[in-house]
Amino acid sequence: MSVLLEVENLVVRYPAMGRVRAALRRQEREFDAVAGVSFSIEAGQTLGLVGESGSGKSTVARTLMGLKRAGSGSIRFDGRDITRAGAQDYARLRREIAMMWQDPVGSLSPRLTVGSLVTEPLRIHGKTADMAAEAKRLLEMVGLPEHFAGRFPHQLSGGQARRVGVARALALDPRLIIADEPTAGLDMSVQAEVLNLLAEMQGRLGIAILVITHNLNVVRHITDRTAIMYLGRFVETGPTEQIFQAPRHPYTGALLSANPEPDPDAARARITLTGEMPSPRNRPSGCEFHGRCLRAQPQCSATVPEFSSAGDQHAFTCHFLVRNGAG
Ligand SMILES: Nc1ncnc2c1ncn2[C@@H]1O[C@H](COP(=O)(O)OP(=O)(O)OP(=O)(O)O)[C@@H](O)[C@H]1O
Ligand SMILES: [Mg+2]
Repeated sequence: MSVLLEVENLVVRYPAMGRVRAALRRQEREFDAVAGVSFSIEAGQTLGLVGESGSGKSTVARTLMGLKRAGSGSIRFDGRDITRAGAQDYARLRREIAMMWQDPVGSLSPRLTVGSLVTEPLRIHGKTADMAAEAKRLLEMVGLPEHFAGRFPHQLSGGQARRVGVARALALDPRLIIADEPTAGLDMSVQAEVLNLLAEMQGRLGIAILVITHNLNVVRHITDRTAIMYLGRFVETGPTEQIFQAPRHPYTGALLSANPEPDPDAARARITLTGEMPSPRNRPSGCEFHGRCLRAQPQCSATVPEFSSAGDQHAFTCHFLVRNGAG
């Protein structure tokens, strides 16, 4: 397997007080929404990026799509450094990296038919093809009947809108799909359908997928690896099955019990997440999770925990577990 996407020490900043005010005051006050994350995705692999609202997931996606500049760190795609790629490079890169946006219906132009929507990427990239035939082919791939080509976005259910999003993402035959909250707002059964569809595309077409979600259980059945994100950093990364079998970081445990799987055998102790997530504009000292952690000790608010290994390719940042030999 070859590495398709390689992100190293990525830092992404936003103005701390809004762009306009910052410009008026001529101040360069910024905060790190993404504060140094590293990960890679191999060709045909699936990675889950999981964290609460505001943890920086979409910011990672926007940066990978070239819509937001990296503050520092590097992004390599297929061996090429694309960290400072310009608009021209990205016009080409968007054939290889497709995006499914967070808001499925809102991101579909309301006045275009489904047929035009799924073939729009082809037109944008100047491909000449029989668009009606292409629409039929793409709709078939995502399990929508041909006559849907004539429908408009407001006539679609949430699950159908997601399928149209997948069809659009597939239009240019990409090598990587970034799916931001692909199941948000869907019923359980429809969530499963959309996830199965993504897994099928990954298996059949060998596409690598980066799935972004706040619900850890969403990634369980379709990802090879998972990264747990908190305040713009990773607190645990590893093979998905290991993270579910033996979560190490207390935050991972809390995320797991916040969204229990509808499985009666999974009698996991419920750990509740208390308090609000702090703001990346004003980071806590030491381990940034200490204020919400049931295991927090004095050391936790004083020193930043390093990554510890929990086995093959599995790592986490927690003082408590290291001290108690649970690592
Ligand atoms: N354009 C922006 N300007 C300033 N701050 C921003 C901007 N976009 C996002 N942020 C801030 O950056 C942080 C990360 O936001 P981001 O949208 O990446 O989070 P997320 O993990 O995708 O959350 P959600 O689950 O709600 O989609 C948050 O604190 C957010 O308020
Ligand atoms: Mg988001």
